[in-house]
Amino acid sequence: MNDSKIKKGKICQIKDIQIGEGLPKICVPITGANVNQILSQALKIMRSPADLIEWRADYFRKCTNINALKSLLGKLADRLEGRPLLMTLRTSEENGYISLSDDDYVEIYTAAMSTGLIDMIDVQYMKRKEVRDALLKSAAENDVKVLFSYHDFSKTPDDDFMTETLLGMRDAGADIAKIALMPQNPNDVLRVMNITDKVRNIADMVPIITISMSSMGIISRICGETFGSAVTFAAVGDSSAPGQIDADEIDKIMIQMHRNLNASQAVMCEKSEFDETVIDTDARKLDIDDDSENRKLDNDDDSGRRKLDIDDDSEKRKLNIDDDSGNCKQNSKRKNIVLTGFMGTGKSTVARKLHKKKNLDVKEIDDMIEEFEGMKISKIFELHGEEYFRQVETRQTEIISESEGVVVSCGGGTVLRPQNVKYLKKNGIIILLDASPDSVYARVKNSGDRRPLLKKHMSRGFISWLMKKRDAAYREAADIVIPTDGLSSEQVAERIIEICKL
Ligand code: S3P
Repeated sequence: MNDSKIKKGKICQIKDIQIGEGLPKICVPITGANVNQILSQALKIMRSPADLIEWRADYFRKCTNINALKSLLGKLADRLEGRPLLMTLRTSEENGYISLSDDDYVEIYTAAMSTGLIDMIDVQYMKRKEVRDALLKSAAENDVKVLFSYHDFSKTPDDDFMTETLLGMRDAGADIAKIALMPQNPNDVLRVMNITDKVRNIADMVPIITISMSSMGIISRICGETFGSAVTFAAVGDSSAPGQIDADEIDKIMIQMHRNLNASQAVMCEKSEFDETVIDTDARKLDIDDDSENRKLDNDDDSGRRKLDIDDDSEKRKLNIDDDSGNCKQNSKRKNIVLTGFMGTGKSTVARKLHKKKNLDVKEIDDMIEEFEGMKISKIFELHGEEYFRQVETRQTEIISESEGVVVSCGGGTVLRPQNVKYLKKNGIIILLDASPDSVYARVKNSGDRRPLLKKHMSRGFISWLMKKRDAAYREAADIVIPTDGLSSEQVAERIIEICKL
């Protein structure tokens, strides 16, 4: 597919997720009938890659009791730790669990929005215009987004109906337009995907969500990036509609498709000097012993170390890779090699390899922080919180910016602060070690005590969620991207040596 042919429609920003851009977002429903069930589902969902949580309020038995609803919302938002919340009241007319008058429908939503705890509501498009307009108005007042939805649980309507419904939703003021339809044959599934592709290319179209339900329609839940459905609904435990599959499974499939479809490879080729980099996810695992408590270099012997400033052979050995010719000016500073990437991508191990192979000094930002504070990182988080940790990290990054010719191994979050990136780029070339959530999880799963951010929700799903959240910042900061899945740390180090002409 040629990306340039695809017109860019509108994007719907909710908290820090951008619906309508990049990977389709994963939305996981909460379907508990009481407070305990709802909160325990929320806890499980936090270990999943869900970008968005849908609270199906119609499943909640006390849904019409406004006080109970507000109190539940407070507890729920607490559990979700800032992940965006979509509230849905699905009435029995559209296969939901509650019969409500239009007035009650508006009242419940309005009360919920007034708490400031929900980010988006789902309004059934077939409701009267007055109902929709009342909700649009109070949503705007409360800074809440509105998704219009249409469901048909018995058939897939004709193409014109689907198109007009989606466009009608946009014209009626929706931030997102959603249709979910039941296929009666495979061609119905194809028609839904075809309409999705046509409608998303219409100028000024809002993000759309299209679902062909049941097991027959499963393909429509995983191909959103190709055809233009911006959100996919997936289950963690209980599903809320026919055909929903497990969130982790769908995440794996979509990431795999995404990597192959466009972004990673395009960025990699553009940024790196590789011609033929291989992404090999299923083969050999990284032999990175990144989990060990001992982060020290395993070769501390200084005696045989070749100092970088000894001009012992060709000028090419110097790290000044800005110079296209490969030559190096006599008095220019030698660049630092800055390794970034998510926790467990092998930054420390690759840094040790570079030390062993090329005698380069290594600066571990995490070690510098621990030394400066006189305590382990987990303790710093526990006593002072993440913000304080980030401030110390920035100070140490600033100190590093004065170094030359060293390997800098960053913490997984260092490049998230633009100021840190400026410091690192001052005299460094930033290399992103990229890895899949599965290989990261395999490497870090026993290191919860050492990694405060993963301690509470150590799971493949949480890692994937956090990686996706950080992905743009990692790529933006990187001068070079190295996909490490299927490569040993030795091979990664060799690539760096080759690219940087070390
Ligand atoms: C962090 C990663 C850790 C450490 C701290 C925060 C992050 O470094 O700096 O726990 O925000 O990703 P590693 O990537 O070396 O584990």
